[in-house]
Amino acid sequence: MRLDKLLSNMGYGSRKEVKQLLKQKAVTVDGAYAKDAALHVDPDKQEVSVFGERVNYTEFVYFMMNKPPGVISATEDLRDETVIELLEPLHQHFQPFPVGRLDKDTEGLLLITNDGILAHNLLSPKKHVPKVYYAQIEGIVTEEDCEKFAQGVELDDGYVTKPGELIILKSAQQSEIELTIQEGKFHQVKRMFEAVGKRVTYLKRLSMGSLKLDDSLALGEYRELTAEELACLQNRD
Ligand code: URA
Repeated sequence: MRLDKLLSNMGYGSRKEVKQLLKQKAVTVDGAYAKDAALHVDPDKQEVSVFGERVNYTEFVYFMMNKPPGVISATEDLRDETVIELLEPLHQHFQPFPVGRLDKDTEGLLLITNDGILAHNLLSPKKHVPKVYYAQIEGIVTEEDCEKFAQGVELDDGYVTKPGELIILKSAQQSEIELTIQEGKFHQVKRMFEAVGKRVTYLKRLSMGSLKLDDSLALGEYRELTAEELACLQNRD
């Protein structure tokens, strides 16, 4: 790959700006000053540095975010702040997008990447990737609801959901539950509870496939996936 393309891809500015860096002797390749923007470099084998700092070339980025409420799961929006706007500019440069949607008022695990193949594999209905949600519910959630969810419930548009595993954490006027579903229909969790006459008052996603929300992330914070988390996500059938 051309040196100017590599550096531009990694957020060091436009090709023109990269040329300036080369002129300033800011860039080394395998320890030697590089002057030629068209120099061909192999990022896997050669060491490229800018102002003495090693450039770790990556094409794909993978972040887990603890999505805060009030922010929408989209790359851009005219009215609302998006999850992408919460990323540092250096990370936005990779043009990542959220994998699937959480409602504006939903919190919790959101994977953000620019890897379209991984996103497709996680979102495809054929892959049955389980998603686990914690929710607070207005109304007493009963064993009967668990049985109904296990059968699949009919949503307001007539669609009958695939079975969901409902676990009651607290059964009271304000119940608390954990629900595992393998689909991602629009407002699915909220509509499943509406189907049994109850209302979700708080919703948080805890996991998606093997990926679990890191408890140490405050709302709005994010971090890169570890190599292990990424390998687990990529290795599912
Ligand atoms: N189900 C919902 O109703 N909302 C979400 O944000 C995610 C799943």
